[in-house]
Amino acid sequence: MKKVAVIPGDGIGPEVIGAALEVLEKAAPKVFDFQSVAMGGNAIDKYGEPLPAESLKICQNAEATLLGAVGGPKWDNQPPELRPERGLLGVRKGLGVFANIRPAKIFTPLASACPLRKDIADKGIDFVIIRELTGGIYFGKHEAFTTPEGERAARDVMEYSEHEIRRIAHVAFKAAMGRRKIVTSIDKANILTVSRLWREVVEDVAKEYPEVSLNHLYVDNASMQLIRVPSEFDVIVTENTFGDILSDEASQIVGSIGMIPSASLGDNNRGLYEPIHGSAPDIAGQDKANPIGTILAGAMMLRYSFGMSKEADKIENAVDEVLNDGLRTGDIYTEGTKLITGSQMRDAIIAKL
Ligand code: IPM
Ligand code: MG
Repeated sequence: MKKVAVIPGDGIGPEVIGAALEVLEKAAPKVFDFQSVAMGGNAIDKYGEPLPAESLKICQNAEATLLGAVGGPKWDNQPPELRPERGLLGVRKGLGVFANIRPAKIFTPLASACPLRKDIADKGIDFVIIRELTGGIYFGKHEAFTTPEGERAARDVMEYSEHEIRRIAHVAFKAAMGRRKIVTSIDKANILTVSRLWREVVEDVAKEYPEVSLNHLYVDNASMQLIRVPSEFDVIVTENTFGDILSDEASQIVGSIGMIPSASLGDNNRGLYEPIHGSAPDIAGQDKANPIGTILAGAMMLRYSFGMSKEADKIENAVDEVLNDGLRTGDIYTEGTKLITGSQMRDAIIAKL
């Protein structure tokens, strides 16, 4: 049996993970040994810390980790080092998964859920964001202090070293080689020193991929172009914070944040797989959450960590089919389609397998 660590997390996390595990078991019966681990708010409640050492160890010993979502208002007033999000960052860093792959593709049956003008959407939207995941402000020094004048102040440091930029750039160029061969590197090189280094290193790496065309955009302009001409993007590579922000934007361009999976990879194939959405505490426990992002994250896990692309295809096709049948959870519902619950969506997908 292949060992997979499973982090259900908080809020809607356990619901969407439950759905994904059932789908995986149906697509690849008796292949996986799923081991559930505590991380996030639930771990704070139970063990007094967001990422108990034992939890990280289980993930590090597994062949892959599947994660729902963590966080919620209950833990919002915790000190920073004891917040659920810190547990998530600890898992990402502890697994060394520096490359976060977030595909943004319009599902044809969901075209009506795309908020962009029809002539823009009709040109086709199919790009992937490669977000650096274990560096930048997220992992720089965080500090709250008092100035000599007695005023409260704070700082968070954005830092990247050359090897961190180089390795994520390689991931992006390699991905582009299997796609339309366009890399857009997004930075803020008109202001940030980090971005100027980023640009230099990305340009350097580009020399090893002469077939790929590279362009650079400032992040503010990129956020605009993603809405104006989304069809022109193929592979986007960017640092941690910019990638966090732009991938939420991308999720709306293709219809819903509930639909997008992500794979986070490092130097080996021991990946971390999660939907890009959060724990949505407002709808938790109401069977409203769209499980598709997590189900597709499970498909990415089959593909990247286990080389099971046939089974991954099956899951992705099943998702396409239920969408074609007009079945919709609330987040992707539009007039003329059929509104169903999260568990009905799960069952519909399983029935197609
Ligand atoms: C994401 C999320 C996380 C992040 C949060 C929950 C810490 O927004 O995966 O995009 O900022 O990375
Ligand atoms: Mg985010």
